[in-house]
Amino acid sequence: MEKPQISNGNTAEAPTIFVIFGATGDLAEKKLFPALFDLHRKKLLPKKCHIVASARRPFSDDEFRKLVASFLSTGKSFSEEELTSFFKIISYHQGFFDEPDTYGRLAVQLQKIDDSFGQCSNKLFYLAVPPSFYETILKHLAASELTKPCGGELGWTPLEKSRHRRLPTPVDVGSLTGWTRILVEKPFGNDMETARVLDRLLGSLFKEEQIFRIDHYLAKESLENFLKLRFSNGAFGAVWNHEHISRVEVQFFQKGDVKGRGNFYDPIGALRDVGQNHLLEMAALAAMDEPKGKGAAAMRKARGEVLKKFIFASRDLTEVSSRAQYEGYSDEEGVAKNSQTETYFRLVLALPTPRWQGVPFVLEAGKALPESRVEIVVHFKHKVHGVCPPGAECLSLNRIVFRVESLPTNSKEGSQPLDAYEKVLLHAVGGDQTLFTSTEEVMEEWRIVMPVLNLWHKMDSPASLYKYQKGTMPKIA
Ligand SMILES: NC(=O)c1ccc[n+]([C@@H]2O[C@H](COP(=O)([O-])OP(=O)(O)OC[C@H]3O[C@@H](n4cnc5c(N)ncnc54)[C@H](OP(=O)(O)O)[C@@H]3O)[C@@H](O)[C@H]2O)c1
Repeated sequence: MEKPQISNGNTAEAPTIFVIFGATGDLAEKKLFPALFDLHRKKLLPKKCHIVASARRPFSDDEFRKLVASFLSTGKSFSEEELTSFFKIISYHQGFFDEPDTYGRLAVQLQKIDDSFGQCSNKLFYLAVPPSFYETILKHLAASELTKPCGGELGWTPLEKSRHRRLPTPVDVGSLTGWTRILVEKPFGNDMETARVLDRLLGSLFKEEQIFRIDHYLAKESLENFLKLRFSNGAFGAVWNHEHISRVEVQFFQKGDVKGRGNFYDPIGALRDVGQNHLLEMAALAAMDEPKGKGAAAMRKARGEVLKKFIFASRDLTEVSSRAQYEGYSDEEGVAKNSQTETYFRLVLALPTPRWQGVPFVLEAGKALPESRVEIVVHFKHKVHGVCPPGAECLSLNRIVFRVESLPTNSKEGSQPLDAYEKVLLHAVGGDQTLFTSTEEVMEEWRIVMPVLNLWHKMDSPASLYKYQKGTMPKIA
């Protein structure tokens, strides 16, 4: 397989170390190690590459590698040689996030790897941890100078920082070798305020081009194809407006419930988990104007500009937002007995722009629903002189469904498209931020959802929390 072209010309060939904080967690197990393993066996990682896996439980390198083998054992066929070769680039680092010693020892471990490469390597710090740890880890990383590019003198030291008694100018990463980058997962903050605090912290320690905020839906092959269809095809461009489209739906339905993830899910809920990020990003891709120019900056700007314009379709939020919880949710392990957390939501947004005047954008997501599917559904207006006469049954089918989750394919493994996390990792190595959300996008997404979250979390909220049976669609009155 050919190496994907990364748009800013980075060759992604320099020695690189991935440092994964939270390497024993759910995300690392289900997404990161499978993606890294596949990239390794497709020979898409830099030639000199190492993964330092960090978490709090004690493991020897070999014990941790066995854990990685168990992560990979579901749904993949691979040879013993491929696994052995992958193991060679993995080491484990035990440490607690809030202890400075964790970072001191990590620095020694990274230096040893750099010594074995004979070169100062690029470092990519992946925060695969619950967001409550972000601040602690980021501050320790900066204070220990681990995020200072090893090629440069342009950075700052903790001593300089304490002398100036203010956060210094971040390093000029563009001109240095041995860059450092930070990858943070969604949810980015827990609300507008925490997102702002986190953003200020990140902005004070790193330059925007060092920060990679992941919304892995942006890396879905199907969404990239959706954009190609929209903007490379004159036929679609001409009808992509309120004259031809009556409604756009973005749906994120999951059959699974929160079993085993109650601790994580209960303080968050469906709107924060997938609405504030995946669904709004998909709505932005459906609604945005064509980016003015090529590259990450133009694409991020186009997404950000349309997000800025989304409003609710009515001032009365109880009319345009609804929430529900599946029966039995509060019996799940880790869930509060009196939990008011929504496992389903529906929002009706509008875009008061010439292109989208009067077109509702309906965002809907939930767990324990009858089926799993992620789709953008575009409903077209009926043409009076169309093939179907007015009133005929086929009118309801006047829509195009873009399925976002990829369907199983029979093609050979080598020719399969890259999985979203493989792309996220490769693009971060290459320094291309097209698939990552900008700070503007994140803030606009919080601006949109905050009024609804405030309404739902008010004492005696007028917004009912409907109940639904697992495996059924909620019936909202
Ligand atoms: N899970 C998913 O599919 C998914 C999808 C999209 C985004 N995300 C996001 O990814 C991030 C990680 O989620 P997750 O579900 O993987 O979390 P998780 O399963 O709770 O994993 C937490 C990790 O952090 C480590 N850890 C916890 N406390 C620590 C401490 N005090 N010191 C050192 N290590 C500590 C744990 O190590 P031990 O095992 O040693 O305790 C574990 O490796 C979150 O931001 C989440 O929103 C997850």
